[in-house]
Amino acid sequence: MKAMLYHEAGGPEVFQYVDVADPEPGPADVVIDVAATSLNRLDVVQRNGWFQMPGFEYPHIAGMDVAGVVSAVGSAVAGVAVGDRVVADPSLAGVSDDSKLAGRGDLFGDLGIIGGTVAGGYAEKCLVPASHVYAVPESMSLEHASTFPTAYLTAAHALFDVGQLQSGETVMIHAAGSGVSTAGIQLAKQAGATVLATAGTDEKCERALALGADHVANNRTADVAGFAREVTQGAGVNMVFDHVGTALFGPSLFGLGVHGRLVNCGNSSGDEATIPSLGYLFHSGIKIMGSDPYRPEEFGPVWDTFCAGDFEVVIDSTFALADAAEAQNKMMQSDFFGKILLTP
Ligand SMILES: NC(=O)c1ccc[n+]([C@@H]2O[C@H](COP(=O)([O-])OP(=O)(O)OC[C@H]3O[C@@H](n4cnc5c(N)ncnc54)[C@H](OP(=O)(O)O)[C@@H]3O)[C@@H](O)[C@H]2O)c1
Repeated sequence: MKAMLYHEAGGPEVFQYVDVADPEPGPADVVIDVAATSLNRLDVVQRNGWFQMPGFEYPHIAGMDVAGVVSAVGSAVAGVAVGDRVVADPSLAGVSDDSKLAGRGDLFGDLGIIGGTVAGGYAEKCLVPASHVYAVPESMSLEHASTFPTAYLTAAHALFDVGQLQSGETVMIHAAGSGVSTAGIQLAKQAGATVLATAGTDEKCERALALGADHVANNRTADVAGFAREVTQGAGVNMVFDHVGTALFGPSLFGLGVHGRLVNCGNSSGDEATIPSLGYLFHSGIKIMGSDPYRPEEFGPVWDTFCAGDFEVVIDSTFALADAAEAQNKMMQSDFFGKILLTP
C-alpha cells in the first residue's frame, strides 16, 4: 500500500510517500481501507518533534481519525465483516489480548493511539482492533465520519465527564475554528449551555456564530475576561474549555465566576501558564482541571449522539494523501475552520 511516513523529526520535507507492506490482521483485528482521515494538531507537532507521545516510534504513519471500508478480518472477529463501512476509535485502551495492538492500554502511561504511537490513517490501509470499529450509517459519508473521533471524544470528555457541564450554564470555548472546539461548541449547545466562543479572526468568530455559539469575541483584539463578564452581567462564566494554553490562561481565569471550572486539554500556544491571582483563585473557589484521556466505554455513546444528532460537519478542505505536507502547512498557519481531510 501507499503510506505517508517519516523516519525523523523535521519540516514537511521529512515526509516520504512510499510503498509499504499491507497490514495483516491479528485474530481480533480488522484492516480498514482508508477512505478519509482527518488531521489533528498532534500530527504536526509530532512530525516537527516539538512533542512526541510516550511510546512513539519511527517510522511513523500519522492519522488518528480513520474512516473507511473493512477489507480483512481476523480469525476470531465476530460482528464485523469485509465490506462494512466503519469509523475507528483511535485510543488503544481496552484492546483484547489477541489483537496485534494489545498491551498499550495504560491510560496514564504510554497509552497507545492509532496514528499517535502506532500506524494510522495517512495510508491506504490501517490496522484496527475489531472492538474499536463502529458502523457508519449509510446516510453518512465516510469523509463526514472521519471528522468525528478525536475532536468529539476530546470535547465530550472535557465538557461533560471532567467539567460536568450542566444545562443552563455558561461556557467559554477558545479557538472556535479548531477541530476540538467546533465539536465542543455544538456539544455544549446541544446540552443546553450558553456558549461564548473566541477565535483569532473576526471571520472565524462569524463562523462560530453560524455554528451555534451565542456570543463571540476575537481573542487577539478583545479583552477576553471582559467579554465573559459583559455577557454574564458581571458574574463570569461557569466554565472555560481551553486547549490554547499559555496565551489565554490569565483571561480564562478572570473570566470565570464563583466556583468556575477551567478545563484544559491542550497547550497549542505554550505549555507554561501563570496563575495571575491566587487571591482570585481561592476567594472565588475556582477549579483548574486537566482533561485526562477518555475511556473506551465513552466512544459508543458519543458516536450514537453524533449519528442521531443535528451536528454540522465542518470540513474546511480535502487533500490527496500525497499532499499531506500541504495539508499540515495549512493547519500550522491556522488557515482553516473545522477539519482538514486527507483521502488516500
Ligand atoms: N487531551 C487530549 O486528549 C487532546 C486530544 C485532541 C487534541 N488535544 C489538543 O487540543 C488542541 C486543539 O487540537 P486541534 O487538533 O483541534 O487543533 P487545531 O484544529 O490545530 O486548532 C488549534 C487552534 O489553536 C489556536 N491557537 C494557536 N495558538 C494560539 C495563540 N497563541 N493564541 C490563541 N489561539 C491560538 C488557533 O486558533 P485561531 O485561529 O482561532 O487563533 C488554532 O487554529 C491541541 O493543543 C491538541 O494537542 C488534546
